[in-house]
Amino acid sequence: MTDPDCLIGLDVGTSGVKAVAISQAGRVVATAEEGYELSTPQPGWAEQDPEDWWRAAQSCLGRLPEGPVGLSGQMHGLVVLDGGGSVLRPAILWNDQRTAAECAEIEARVGLERLIELTGNRALTGFTAPKLLWLRRHEPETYARIRHVLLPKDYVRFRLTGERMIDAADASGTLLFDVANRRWSADVLDALELPGEWLPPAHESTEIAGAGDQAAAALGVGIASPGPVSVVLGTSGVVFAALESYAADPEARVHVFCHAVPETWHAMGVMLSAAGSAAWVRRALGVDFGVLDEEAARWEPGTEGLLFAPYLAGERTPHADPDARGAFTGLSLRHDRGALWRGTLEGVAYGLRDSLELLRALGVRAEVGRVSGGGARSALWLRIVAAVLGLPLELTESEEGSAYGAALLAGVRAGVFSDAAEAVARCVRVRDRVEPDPGWREAYELGYARYRKLYPSLRPLEDR
Ligand SMILES: Nc1ncnc2c1ncn2[C@@H]1O[C@H](COP(=O)(O)OP(=O)(O)OP(=O)(O)O)[C@@H](O)[C@H]1O
Ligand SMILES: [Mg+2]
Repeated sequence: MTDPDCLIGLDVGTSGVKAVAISQAGRVVATAEEGYELSTPQPGWAEQDPEDWWRAAQSCLGRLPEGPVGLSGQMHGLVVLDGGGSVLRPAILWNDQRTAAECAEIEARVGLERLIELTGNRALTGFTAPKLLWLRRHEPETYARIRHVLLPKDYVRFRLTGERMIDAADASGTLLFDVANRRWSADVLDALELPGEWLPPAHESTEIAGAGDQAAAALGVGIASPGPVSVVLGTSGVVFAALESYAADPEARVHVFCHAVPETWHAMGVMLSAAGSAAWVRRALGVDFGVLDEEAARWEPGTEGLLFAPYLAGERTPHADPDARGAFTGLSLRHDRGALWRGTLEGVAYGLRDSLELLRALGVRAEVGRVSGGGARSALWLRIVAAVLGLPLELTESEEGSAYGAALLAGVRAGVFSDAAEAVARCVRVRDRVEPDPGWREAYELGYARYRKLYPSLRPLEDR
């Protein structure tokens, strides 16, 4: 199968590889998807075998027309290679929570204020640098053999082309990157006694057709510069805004990273379990999404006081707390399966609202959201999220925003588009728009005010 005009985007996600082939006018020509497992060898740990990513990537590419390939993927994951390019141990993922002690060590070694100044961020358990410190302490034999460090989608590139490289967007999530100046931070590397030679050369996303999945998703829904915010209902949940210029949140409550467009940055809040919460509840209830949506739609907004805390895997924004846990509260005899489902969708929407409010505090003017991710397939969830955020939500051609954005980057690198803005202008079209329902507003303002009290009330229960 060859189509000379096709651009391919490959997204190495948490649940699987998702790939799209698009025409040079942005039409989706073909898609492919191949899943893999997540391994949790200990509570709070999350690992994957890089070989699984590679197998899934090959299988997806084999089912699509040929064309220039762009890569996107789950951020922060640590892949360690020896001098011969062999993988030394399973990759430690973005949602792995084992590094609380190492995060404290990093903030002590560098100083919190200086760390935020140098990297734009504080040390969070999901980031890459604390994983390296964890290996140094707990698996010194593996650590001693490390010669190269890669992020997940860059490992797939390495297998595809033999090249070791990274883009500024994904590098921003390592905590080893000088986000303001878009280069590795010698200061942080020195302070943590980590060898800079392990890291691949850093380039702009448009130069190497690669970006972390959130920057790629934003580009894929048409956000190359400040304007709409990107709202992602993936395993994780994200509210993302492109910034006029680099500006770190002095308290680093949201992440500030390089965008996939040269000389632009973005801020984002990240929930660890968005569609991940929904997937867990659906599995526990044992019925299909469609049935659950239908039953949930019979409930009034606010679900008669039922609240869901979506912290099944700890949380990042706004509560940087690996020990946070989920809960249903406010249950009554009247609540049924549809109520549990509606409460879940609402709880995640409130969590996204927390991130939106933090972005607004940073000066972001959000007037419309562009939505992507697996959860965007639920019309009910989109209506709830629009009402809770108080923003119209626009849908573009593909929910697979990250893979689509990677395909646009492939086009820029191949010279099909002169830059990211032109790629967006020629390809990304809004196909639908979900308005916030004014009749739901009051219930959701009240619900959000109650939700904000949930985490502080639950927190003391986790000190076991
Ligand atoms: N109709 C639906 N309602 C709710 N959730 C859904 C629906 N359809 C799919 N999902 C969920 O969407 C998720 C997959 O979304 P997506 O592919 O965007 O995530 P991912 O790429 O694996 O994760 P991440 O981008 O966070 O790494 C799964 O958890 C799936 O259960
Ligand atoms: Mg994804």
